[in-house]
Amino acid sequence: MPCLPLLLPLLLLALSALALPSPPRPPLLKERVLPPRTWHPLSRAPPAHTLRLRLALAQPRMQDLHSQLLERSDPAHPHYGRWMSKAEVEALAAPAPESVDAVEEWLAAAGVDLRGAERSPAGDALTLTLPVALAEALLSTEYHLFAHRTTGEHIVRTTEYSLPRSVHAHIRSVQPTTLFSRPRALRSPLHALQPTAFHALDQAAGALSEASSCKSLVTPACLQSLYATAGYAASANATALGITGYLEQYANAEDLQEFYRGYAESAVGSSFQTVLINGGQNTQTASAAGTEANLDTQYAGALTYPVPNTFYSTGGSPPFTPDDAESSNTNEPYADWLAYVLALDELPAVVSTSYGDDEQTVPESYAQTVCDQFAQLGARGVSVIFASGDFGVGPSASECYSNDGANRAMFIPNFPASCPFVTTVGATTSSGPEVAAGFSGGGFSNYFPQPSYQASAVASFLSTLGSEYTGLYNASGRAYPDVSAQGENFLIYVGGYPGSVDGTSCSAPTFASIITLLNDALVRAGKPTLGFLNPFLYGAGLAGLTDITSGSNAGCGTKGFQAGEGWDPVTGLGTPVFTTLRALAGA
Ligand SMILES: *[C@@H]1O[C@H](CO)[C@@H](O)[C@H](O)[C@H]1NC(C)=O
Ligand SMILES: *[C@@H]1O[C@H](CO)[C@@H](O)[C@H](O)[C@H]1NC(C)=O
Repeated sequence: MPCLPLLLPLLLLALSALALPSPPRPPLLKERVLPPRTWHPLSRAPPAHTLRLRLALAQPRMQDLHSQLLERSDPAHPHYGRWMSKAEVEALAAPAPESVDAVEEWLAAAGVDLRGAERSPAGDALTLTLPVALAEALLSTEYHLFAHRTTGEHIVRTTEYSLPRSVHAHIRSVQPTTLFSRPRALRSPLHALQPTAFHALDQAAGALSEASSCKSLVTPACLQSLYATAGYAASANATALGITGYLEQYANAEDLQEFYRGYAESAVGSSFQTVLINGGQNTQTASAAGTEANLDTQYAGALTYPVPNTFYSTGGSPPFTPDDAESSNTNEPYADWLAYVLALDELPAVVSTSYGDDEQTVPESYAQTVCDQFAQLGARGVSVIFASGDFGVGPSASECYSNDGANRAMFIPNFPASCPFVTTVGATTSSGPEVAAGFSGGGFSNYFPQPSYQASAVASFLSTLGSEYTGLYNASGRAYPDVSAQGENFLIYVGGYPGSVDGTSCSAPTFASIITLLNDALVRAGKPTLGFLNPFLYGAGLAGLTDITSGSNAGCGTKGFQAGEGWDPVTGLGTPVFTTLRALAGA
């Protein structure tokens, strides 16, 4: 029996496999970060503390969505302006059925009750409410309580997590785990206006409609003159503008009327609609009036009247209960807002956001997931507009280091400003000519590669720059801002009193308002809205922007980048000229 010697070892092997099952393969590391220096760990998180864990699933057709978005937003493409329906976008944003199955099997086997899970309309996100102990078991990790060094806020986070091999490739990111970002409103504190200065302003009311008056104090009238929207009468029903508010910023309706009575008389009596998301509040006492929210709603309202404006007040995780473990509710504001709007059938044509944080405090997988959701809005024809940040190329020199362990000196880009599917707005000041505001955030992403629509504009800038700052910025990254608008000395009302503010928070709603008026003109001419703006701005729309050629954005102990002819990472392509843009857009 020649076979026997061979058969026996095989049989033994089979028997031993039966008797001694191989040990379960250990889970694979999914993400590991160093917490930013501003947070320090205190203790293990209480096991019973509740987390709202959001699992973002892999999206195999996302590249397809990006290509569709870039085609439909390119004025030279035959599909220009053919925005996609909610169902079409969801089909491209959906996970593969096998990803859903694998993830659900894993969760069910771990004892998670899936009946309580919230699912996004495209099925790409699954949100579970779980105790820390169960999340730790699922993610093979330990959650800790972290305290913020200056504000004392507490958050529950971990610096790494792992996933079993059966689901590792099916999941893009799980949060809150490694997300330490703390989005900030991008503006200065309110400067009270001295009664004499304010009196002088009232005396000068007639002259406020001159573009030149923007030099000393910005009002809606000087912006209308500077950006050539004066005399354009929008309709009340063609399109809509959305303003996002986070971090307990309430837009005050009384202050709006006070502002309108002084500086936008025709709008008196009109207001914005407030939408509350995830426990967002709408406190209307004078002391709760938010500088950021008031700035955004007052300028958007005055510049776009009578176009309907919506203010979205997004809270933390619902229901947010400041318990012992977590005093901060700034979990993942963009994700909560996005989950809400992506489920809507009707979207505003433009959305302006004046918040951001250092890109490196946002884990790359999370930044990509969120940026892809902005791309979904763009594909549905929404112009998503962000402020570029208020720290030039970065904060103080001591803070301009990579947080990856290498501690490499670098400029500090801002997110979501660095997402290639949003339009990022920097700041200018003065008039005749406008110059860059020194704080205007600008730079290059370390997460997102440079999109083709800006490749030649950025290449020209880099060839002029030469070797200055080599190593401090990522020349192959998405470069921003795309455009700019006034950002200093904006007169606003807060809590019943006038004051002035600076910041790219002033620039974003100003630029968003001009796009809103362009959309109004387009819709009334029977044309589609502008949607994702960048291919238009870097191409056919370029002649409708005033190039800003002086000023620089100091930061990180350097004088920053220099504004010059053509695109630059201080003022982008320049500031808008409504009448020219309107003609170029074909309205
Ligand atoms: C929109 O408003 C214009 C006036 O501005 C009016 O003529 C038109 O009928 C309105 N359209 C709708 C759909 O309400
Ligand atoms: C620079 O950007 C590219 C493209 O996004 C990226 O792949 C690379 O990792 C970045 N480099 C650094 C040092 O962050």
